[in-house]
Amino acid sequence: MTTTSHNIRSTPFELQVRKDTRFDFSSVDTSIHTEGNLYTSHFFNALSLVAPLTEGMLIRAIRKAQPMLEGSEFANDAKAFIGQEAIHTREHRAFNKRLEELGLDAKATLEEMEQGIKEIEATKTLQEHLAIVVTGEHIIYAFTRALLASSHRHFEQHDTVRALFIWHSLEEMEHQSVCDDIYKHLYGTGTEHRVLYYRSLTSTGNLLGRIVVKLIRSLLAQSREPKKGELREFISWLVRTPGMGTIATKEILSFFSPRFNHWSRLEEDQKLISTHLKHI
Ligand SMILES: [Fe+2]
Ligand SMILES: [Fe+2]
Repeated sequence: MTTTSHNIRSTPFELQVRKDTRFDFSSVDTSIHTEGNLYTSHFFNALSLVAPLTEGMLIRAIRKAQPMLEGSEFANDAKAFIGQEAIHTREHRAFNKRLEELGLDAKATLEEMEQGIKEIEATKTLQEHLAIVVTGEHIIYAFTRALLASSHRHFEQHDTVRALFIWHSLEEMEHQSVCDDIYKHLYGTGTEHRVLYYRSLTSTGNLLGRIVVKLIRSLLAQSREPKKGELREFISWLVRTPGMGTIATKEILSFFSPRFNHWSRLEEDQKLISTHLKHI
């Protein structure tokens, strides 16, 4: 057994729940809102469509852990984490409603995902559920950091859709270490936990990846025909310039380095957060 206890809060500031953040999506008049590219647009649409389901799973796990955090320095973080995720869900639901009005129907794929999540939750212990949440949050952080670090604010995207993703991304960066802190506070650190994290990351990554690909396929089937070169542009955005997928993959893998520390780039991360707060 290599478990050691952990009581150190990593988040370097108090988290804020920006309850008044609201977006008006009425001016979004097409589901193809990113660089005029069908694939890139549906990539963002798919992320938005799954957000309420994944965030519901994160919120339920932290809610279950809350009674064990009373009186600790993690109680406020748990409350703020739930608050931030709940507002993300509210705003993504508003955007998803607009996508539905624009003719996209994702009900069947989302119901399948909801069923998969219910099955996972019914069979996992709280510790396993939290490990899934920690690794899921790291996957989300990896993508959102890649988005902010690659100057997404200069990207050609409908202004309100871009503001939604920038705001969501910067809050994901802010609460990047909350779930990991809570897990370590409750269960400790050590090899057995790293193994559980690794298993959880693999299964969470697979589930999320499968659903996002399935959703994109379903959205493509409901849209206009792809134009010549559109798929190539999307793949280039993902792997080369700026290489969103490549940057995110590196971030995900860094989680398994023995030297990993959520806030090892504190100044850089804080700058990304404060710069982007001005653009929402
Ligand atoms: Fe979120
Ligand atoms: Fe999050």
